Amino acid sequence: MRAQALVAVAFAAALSLVGCSSGAPAATSPAATAATSAPAGGAGGEVGVFTWWADGSEKVGLQALETLFKEKYPNNTFVNLAVAGGAGTNAKAKLAADLVNGNPPDSFQGHAGAELQDYIRADQIVAVNEVIDGLGGSSVFPQSLLDLLTVQGSIYSVPSNIHRANVVWTNPEVLKKASITAEPADIDAWLADMAKLKAAGVSTPLTIGGTWTQVQLFETVLIADLGVDGYIALFKEGADWGSDGVKKAVAHYAKLLGYANTASDGDDWPGAIDAVINGKAAYNVMGDWAVAEFAAKNKKDGVDYMYFPVPGTDGVFDFLADSFTLPKGAKNAAGSKDWLNLIGSAEGQKAFNLAKGSIPARTDVPATDFPPYQQSAMEAFKSDKIAPSIAHGAAVSQAWNSDISTAISKFYASKDQATLVADLVAAGTKNLA
Ligand code: BGC
Repeated sequence: MRAQALVAVAFAAALSLVGCSSGAPAATSPAATAATSAPAGGAGGEVGVFTWWADGSEKVGLQALETLFKEKYPNNTFVNLAVAGGAGTNAKAKLAADLVNGNPPDSFQGHAGAELQDYIRADQIVAVNEVIDGLGGSSVFPQSLLDLLTVQGSIYSVPSNIHRANVVWTNPEVLKKASITAEPADIDAWLADMAKLKAAGVSTPLTIGGTWTQVQLFETVLIADLGVDGYIALFKEGADWGSDGVKKAVAHYAKLLGYANTASDGDDWPGAIDAVINGKAAYNVMGDWAVAEFAAKNKKDGVDYMYFPVPGTDGVFDFLADSFTLPKGAKNAAGSKDWLNLIGSAEGQKAFNLAKGSIPARTDVPATDFPPYQQSAMEAFKSDKIAPSIAHGAAVSQAWNSDISTAISKFYASKDQATLVADLVAAGTKNLA
């Protein structure tokens, strides 16, 4: 009990930085926005759902929801509007254009936290309090998570899942080549293991993909070197992106890249994890959507692959959550609410998260229904300190994420550490103004 209370406090505190409500449109009365008197079987009509779960294991996750949606709401026609590209790199640009052009989907995927606040501030989504209340409200969703979806008392999306970003996935057969048997305690120990792997003939100790995967790797190194509190301070007024801690993280990050494959910006995450699966590389830092990729390739937990928190981040859960919205001007708002009710239900969350590698946002889905990885993530989510992800919209707005991504992409080419620090400082100053 005591531990849980502490966690709740830590989680709320960690994420309070993204709960800022300044500049948001005046809250619409929740009661006025989310009447849910849909007929059994669904409101009818097409329900266009926009995600970036277009391929591979992510598509399988979406299909689990689609199947259940068709079963529960046979009156509706599910229209899959997915746009391919990990972390929504392509999807978000298309979505932004559709929203600006008054052509919203009936529901779209948005990350809990700062990213969702972007859509709220732009007045592009409407409140769904009644849907959340009907699903059980804070008795089934962590209040701290609901806080990330709330502005001035209005809740703007329904969370479908929680992912962890600071996970190293590894292939034990490859580690054997360098007789590595223990998890490294910190980034320096991890770099030493990579040197051993290189010496043992493993040409790619670490894999990376395009820019967003590099941003994600970098954020985990920031957490390792600054600690969770120092990391969280980076997103608050008075943040010091030019500190010795950030410089140390940049230096560590540069060394890690020295052990990685050459990536181009279009390289998506499945390629990076597949190199580990195929025994071509030792490590990949990836969100736990990776576990679905291992499952898709029939790989066994503890036999074919292993995982541990990024060294130096043990006890920290680098957090992100997908959630679904009701866009302003959606053509089928009633059908959209059917979708929201489905993804927010215990049954929907079980079906989806089993396929996706994430854990349910709801707290009433039994852990025993899940395989060992997700059980361990559920435990970690309860007991760890929570850090919001940069790359996946929890910590920073889309504009800030884009500035950090530009800096990281530039660094990939230049390897100029001082310039990266200067660019991060400039991005912080600009976006905290
Ligand atoms: C999403 C995940 C997705 C991952 C890779 C993240 O931003 O939250 O659901 O699996 O990107 O595409």
